[in-house]
Amino acid sequence: MTRRRLLGIGGTLGLTAATGLSAAAALSRRPAATGAELRSAIPLPPAFRTPLPLPPVLKPVSTSGGVDRYKVTQREVKVEILPGVRTPMWTYEGTFPGPTIEARRGRPITVTHRNELPVPTVVHLHGGRNTPTPDGYPTDLVLPEAWPEPAGGTSAMHQMADMSLMDGMSAMSGPSGMAGMRDPRAVVTRLTRDYTFPTDQRPTMLWYHDHRMDFTAPAIWRGLAGLHFVRDDAEDALGLPAGAREVPLMIADRAFDSDGNLKYPALDPSLRDRPGVRESYLAGVLGDVILVNGAPWPVHEVDAARYRLRILNASNARHYELEAVTDDGRRLDLVQIGADQGLLAAPVTHRSLPIAPAERYDLIVDFTDVPGGDRVRIRNRLGAGRTRDVMAFRIARKAADDSRIPPVLARDLPSWHQSDAVRVREFAFRAGRMHGHHGWLIGGRPFDPARTDVTVNLGDVGVWRLIADVHHPVHLHLVGFQVLSRGGRQPLAHDAGLKDTISLRPGESAEIITRFDGYRGRYLFHCHNAEHEDMGMMANLEIG
Ligand code: C2O
Ligand code: CU
Ligand code: CU
Repeated sequence: MTRRRLLGIGGTLGLTAATGLSAAAALSRRPAATGAELRSAIPLPPAFRTPLPLPPVLKPVSTSGGVDRYKVTQREVKVEILPGVRTPMWTYEGTFPGPTIEARRGRPITVTHRNELPVPTVVHLHGGRNTPTPDGYPTDLVLPEAWPEPAGGTSAMHQMADMSLMDGMSAMSGPSGMAGMRDPRAVVTRLTRDYTFPTDQRPTMLWYHDHRMDFTAPAIWRGLAGLHFVRDDAEDALGLPAGAREVPLMIADRAFDSDGNLKYPALDPSLRDRPGVRESYLAGVLGDVILVNGAPWPVHEVDAARYRLRILNASNARHYELEAVTDDGRRLDLVQIGADQGLLAAPVTHRSLPIAPAERYDLIVDFTDVPGGDRVRIRNRLGAGRTRDVMAFRIARKAADDSRIPPVLARDLPSWHQSDAVRVREFAFRAGRMHGHHGWLIGGRPFDPARTDVTVNLGDVGVWRLIADVHHPVHLHLVGFQVLSRGGRQPLAHDAGLKDTISLRPGESAEIITRFDGYRGRYLFHCHNAEHEDMGMMANLEIG
């Protein structure tokens, strides 16, 4: 495809419809954010006072038979997010973030989720190389115990053997906000569901979150998100900072009402029937409070040593460009050692690092030369006012450090070539109309669970060209991919390694390459701006 034709497509993308800008103007303006910010109506705490919480690590209920088994209850509890304020949230196991799962490569795990929330839920392990059944397809609902009985009867619904026989279409006729959508393949259970993950994948930090059709964004906002690590012996042997010097950081913005409740502009605050957000938030919901591991602008005490930071942007729509700044204004290097799907071949050093919703980075930051008592602030160059701050590290003491950053981190990265690709597919991510309302479309169409958008053969290598009007962080289930190009040029420094989410910037096109291996079945790809996702920007990928 020639450059001219690419630009032509960009021009017809609906850029003008979405933003009133031409592609070139959109590229030159590159707004820092796609979305609108909610204002909190409660006094907000000063930055860098609240200690950084570390999410509890979930203990298995059994480890016999080569499988680790876990139980997670989804329930509403009041959580102290702002100091002294109790905020009702939807949680995994009563905390936000939910408990962290620690998995070992090659060792399957089963997580039994129990839904005690007032609405159906779906659990997705983001970045997991999962078989299709437990992958958290948006119509594979776990209904609450008291949810209206789907038409047609469901007496045998929790029995796995009968689940495949259940008529998913009738389950959709309940008050589940499916906007008339029918999905004959939906697998619906009541109260509980076992999610089994093979854990046959490269070590990395994954996350689990809600994925219910039409209501993913508000469910994640209310708290349904947690971390999930995959580790192996090879990575453990590298000598990277470990133990207390490996710190997970789940970054998410929120906004609070005067009573401590989370603000969210849902059309139906019960999240039962009517999906969507108020019109001014259609491009995405931003909060004015930056939380890390569920604490506002926290501070973490560290040794003057190297730290490994495992960073996730769990925000619905907010983008960050992170930098680490000392009290005397020095910027520390951010040494990237891993991407969404695990270790890079070799470290890449950044001065600042953009991170879009759902992206993860594995970074080493060296505090060795920072004077004791000083702080290193993590700042967001895209923020304004208080959203410029993210968190701070306070250097408490000198300490010995025998960690290292090996010049070669991994040798198992795939080397796919454009010439291996069976074909090149093109997908435009852009604003449009959906059921008579504003929507977000892929290839001109809103999501329909009953339609197969792309069919590939197991094992095929494919190149996908993704084209955006505004910011769209595009995520593929099941597979990791490499970025081949952006706007016809070399990928950016932070595109290195294996990704599962790529941040498309306004007016941009990018090419990614992957091999569709793993499992056959129905998977998704979608925009991970959670509001876009709920308003149609998802599509089905059938691996046959
Ligand atoms: Cu975090 Cu379907 O994704
Ligand atoms: Cu995912
Ligand atoms: Cu989007």
